[in-house]
Amino acid sequence: MDPSFSLRQAQPEDGPDFSELFLISAPFFVELFKDDTKRVLKNLFVSPRNLFSFQHVCFAEIDGQIAGMILSYSWETHRKEYLRTGHLFFRVLGFKMLRIFRVLLRLNAELCKLAESDYYISNLAVYPRFRGIGIGRLLMEKAEEDAKKIGSRRLVLEVEESNTIALSLYRKLGFEVVEKFQTKLSKDHSLNFCRMIKPLV
Ligand SMILES: CC(C)(COP(=O)(O)OP(=O)(O)OC[C@H]1O[C@@H](n2cnc3c(N)ncnc32)[C@H](O)[C@@H]1OP(=O)(O)O)[C@@H](O)C(=O)NCCC(=O)NCCS
Repeated sequence: MDPSFSLRQAQPEDGPDFSELFLISAPFFVELFKDDTKRVLKNLFVSPRNLFSFQHVCFAEIDGQIAGMILSYSWETHRKEYLRTGHLFFRVLGFKMLRIFRVLLRLNAELCKLAESDYYISNLAVYPRFRGIGIGRLLMEKAEEDAKKIGSRRLVLEVEESNTIALSLYRKLGFEVVEKFQTKLSKDHSLNFCRMIKPLV
């Protein structure tokens, strides 16, 4: 590892970098939340005990500058924080949530299907100027280390089928595609995902 790389736990004041990197990894969020996207992400990020909280985010830095991030958590965290996450969405969006409620339910049913002892990689992104120098790999290795520390048995993630760069990274790290599925965001926009798994021994 290059000595100038470092990893650190996110803090509530890292909201702007979190939002930017999150949307690099999941641009479809803008289509769902439209003008409220940044507000939703900011509010959830600063709040503890939800699936978008700073508590689950790790940043990679180069010479003190944020270069990339990973958002990941265990199946148990998902089980405990899922309802509160929905509640926070509602608190931020109010009745605007009704417009996207069905899509959110569908996404929730199709993404993040975890079994006991799974560890979920929710989002990974590196700013374009810092790509290709090992930061994505470093962040994934950190998540794997965290997963092993708590006794997780598998790493699980979903990636868009068209994202060949991320697929190549995950394959190199030992992930295999176990399922392909499509999810509908709107009348004319569907996303094609691969579910990938890496057993941890
Ligand atoms: C995917 C992403 C996180 C990779 O981050 P990165 O720091 O550039 O990756 P690394 O430098 O650690 O490279 C690791 C592996 O990724 C693959 N990779 C990286 N850049 C690549 C490129 N331009 N072309 C093909 N493969 C590439 C390679 O397999 C590489 O392994 P190698 O170095 O042994 O060749 C980054 O491209 C990114 O942020 N993309 C946009 C967001 C995204 O797609 N996130 C994943 C959503 S599931």
